[in-house]
Amino acid sequence: MKKWIGMAVLAVFVLISGCSLANQEKISDLKVTHLRCEYLKDPLGIDVVQPRLSWILESSERSLKQTAYRIIVSSSEEILQRNSGDLWDSGKVKSDRTNQIVYEGKELRSRMKCYWKVFVWDNNRIMRESHEEGFWTVGLLDEEDWKGTWIGMELDPRFLEPEKLAPGPPPPWFRKTFALLKPVKNALIYITARGIFRLHINGQQIGKDIFAPEWTDYNTRIQYRTYDVTENLRQEKNAIGAVVGDGWYSGYLGWRKFRGNYGLQNSLLLQLEVKYEDGTAEIIASDQTWLCAEGPIISSDLLMGEHYDARKEMPGWDTAEFDDKDWKPVVIVDKPQAKLVAQPSETVQVMHHIEPVEIAEPKKGVYVFDLGQNIAGWVRLKVRGETGTKVTLRHAERLNPDGTIYTTNLRDAKAMDTYILKGGEEEVFEPRFTFHGFQYVEVTGFPGVPDKNAITGCAVYSAAPPAGTFECSSPMVNQLYKNLTWSQRGNYISIPTDCPQRDERLGWMGDAQIFIRTGTFNMDIAAFFTKWMRDVADAQSKEGAFPDFAPRLKDKVLMRFESAPAWGDAGIIVPWTIHRVYGDTRIITEHWEAMVQWMDFLQEANPDLIRRKKTGNNYGDWLSIEADTPKDLLATAYWAFDAELMAEMAKVIGRRSEAFYYEKLFQNIREAFQREFVLLDGRIKGETQTGYLLALAMDLVPEDLRARSAEHLVENIEQRDWHLSTGFVGAGFLLPVLSQIGYSDVAYRLLLNETFPSWGYSIKQGATTIWERWDGWTEEKGFQDPGMNSFNHYAFGSVGEWLFSFVAGIDLDSEITAYKRFKIQPHVGGGFKYAKAEYNSIQGKIVSGWKLENGQLIMNVTIPANTSAFIYVPTEDMSQVTESGKPVKDSEGVKFLRMEKGAAVFKVDSGSYIFESISKTGHPEF
Ligand code: BGC
Repeated sequence: MKKWIGMAVLAVFVLISGCSLANQEKISDLKVTHLRCEYLKDPLGIDVVQPRLSWILESSERSLKQTAYRIIVSSSEEILQRNSGDLWDSGKVKSDRTNQIVYEGKELRSRMKCYWKVFVWDNNRIMRESHEEGFWTVGLLDEEDWKGTWIGMELDPRFLEPEKLAPGPPPPWFRKTFALLKPVKNALIYITARGIFRLHINGQQIGKDIFAPEWTDYNTRIQYRTYDVTENLRQEKNAIGAVVGDGWYSGYLGWRKFRGNYGLQNSLLLQLEVKYEDGTAEIIASDQTWLCAEGPIISSDLLMGEHYDARKEMPGWDTAEFDDKDWKPVVIVDKPQAKLVAQPSETVQVMHHIEPVEIAEPKKGVYVFDLGQNIAGWVRLKVRGETGTKVTLRHAERLNPDGTIYTTNLRDAKAMDTYILKGGEEEVFEPRFTFHGFQYVEVTGFPGVPDKNAITGCAVYSAAPPAGTFECSSPMVNQLYKNLTWSQRGNYISIPTDCPQRDERLGWMGDAQIFIRTGTFNMDIAAFFTKWMRDVADAQSKEGAFPDFAPRLKDKVLMRFESAPAWGDAGIIVPWTIHRVYGDTRIITEHWEAMVQWMDFLQEANPDLIRRKKTGNNYGDWLSIEADTPKDLLATAYWAFDAELMAEMAKVIGRRSEAFYYEKLFQNIREAFQREFVLLDGRIKGETQTGYLLALAMDLVPEDLRARSAEHLVENIEQRDWHLSTGFVGAGFLLPVLSQIGYSDVAYRLLLNETFPSWGYSIKQGATTIWERWDGWTEEKGFQDPGMNSFNHYAFGSVGEWLFSFVAGIDLDSEITAYKRFKIQPHVGGGFKYAKAEYNSIQGKIVSGWKLENGQLIMNVTIPANTSAFIYVPTEDMSQVTESGKPVKDSEGVKFLRMEKGAAVFKVDSGSYIFESISKTGHPEF
């Protein structure tokens, strides 16, 4: 009976919505899409008890706005379909908000599955139901929810005292068979490891994660993953298998020459929770009944590579039918002190497959494959040959002059995979628990002569959704954009690293903060940095110092790196950036105390408001070119910046007195800075480009001297024959500040330089990623010091921000966050004929493209539904501007505001627009 009533209600609803749909088609093409929970699409096993929901409105209509929404969250799909929110029905909320909406329904408990959708009303009074439905599941919130025990394989005592740079033991393979006697409704696995795992069920790998549960400070926090394995189970006999590699837990880390930085024994914890159709449930968990064995992986390490002997493969090891009589019982391993948390970010996965562009044979039997692109990952090898044949793969970023691979810059990272053939048919090998930073692969021991098909590059990185693209008429700049995108990919691997190839690969904070804004344009990195900020917080010292890199090992002396200016300050800059770009206030509240402690720490150490005390390291403007920016100047500028961002963030989270306090602190540091570093003629002490850039960018120069300081900066660039001298810190500010102070022409000049030092110089030398140093390789000197010479370091790639924000002109509004309102202000120049960027913001897709045609500037822009933008159309005369061929005054959704610095400024609502502007005076760029 109930069912009939339900169906009748449904039918009436379908009828009503069907009718209104028919009417709506004519007026509105609005779609409600991209339903996400905590920045993730349909996440499994989250541990946020009040998750935030978001969606995107898609419509080509002009001036479309959301006026209200209603969110429905239900405990089953059927209930959701009846539009009944048994968990939460927000009711109709008058609001134009589409993101950061906090779930306020019934208390979420472990294992719940929540289905949701949203209804949106727009300014045409039309109601739309979301195009898709979303869901999330709740993970294991309480310690008691974990029923399994940590299991490991008895460790050969030889590996208890690690030897310098020696390989570790073979990773343990685990298995368990079990029978399911009743029809299964659904089944989830909760799993984690000390080490990195691959999970298998009934002969298949589960999920795409390759390094789960990824890197955290294992002494503080260990992430777990949740997989839905309903489809993988069978009635009757089943097998679960897992192999646990060393990863960051027990493998080599950084330049430490010993394994086992968090522990030596890899271990596994998992539980499979099966719900049967009849309403009963069962848990199969890791315990002493599991078996373990050594398999074909002889050793495997992120830095060193993988040694694999296919003769030791155990076909069917992950199936119920496998004969495991030689497998041993597992050992029960101590429970960690660290808390278990759900991974809040996208996992590392294989993201691209790349075919080689060339094979060379610089020496007899030594084949060098060129992928044409420097990546982080590994290669898939296809080979056929006799049993026992050993093929060795070595990886490198560059070649020696004789065509052999250049590996000296890898320092102690061996980056070598070896494969021993089982023999017979074609064999395919991909290592599991390693990655290398490379463009070239040297293959030795290959039976016969390999062709291009023998090797495929597999690029791996954190699967944060792609966000933006940039293109312009300069092939060199397009290559630069490509290079910085690939450097981001190669270095966003679980955490933001400095480089992916040598024995380092640490979450260096200076690199991360200087690049983050560029990072947001390329990928949606809200979840990625939500995770990493927790690593940063875990690594904060008890005195309040933020580390220089995170995660770190707090107790190990060698890893006591902290509080470096522009590095530690990432602890403030990252939450602020994530807030600005994604409207995230939770990252501010979550880390507020930590940020306050950092500010107190700085103030205590530097009572005269010049940050000169060495509380840790000070790398200055790292890797600048013959320019010594005073370290206390750089440090003080960053401190002032911190204070200003703190004031802004305090306001956002309603801490008014602290906002006032930090604003005052900013003013006081500013004055101290001026006394100490700003000369009467606007010169900045040290007279380096970076000194000027920081003083100008962080508003530390008195108003009446700004123009003079700007001139001195440009003089300095001119004195260097229009070249940069900036290091990691200054390079991020160089072009944006030049544009802000009215010297976009100089900015373009620096961008387009091809002589040393410049971005173009590395591209001329064939760079396919951003180099760590401007002089990584020069015609005069060849390779720089191999002790520190990475060819995949994104820091100098921070120029990407300028390409998006100034060349294409997409930028945030100074008052309203998250692109709800934003700016499109292209800086036309550089002799470019066109430039175009697309950016998937949290509100939807923004497009800004311009081209010059017959003395006319044509701008194509798209403003997402429910947002507005200020558009700056370069012109001397507003009457010369048209939109879609009409005078702008007749154009729907466009309002002229004012003329400003050679541009007509319009306020524009959502929709696509074509502005055309004719230059009367023959502007040189037109
Ligand atoms: C890293 C950098 C890092 C720096 C600190 C280097 O070894 O590779 O990227 O920021 O140390 O100065």
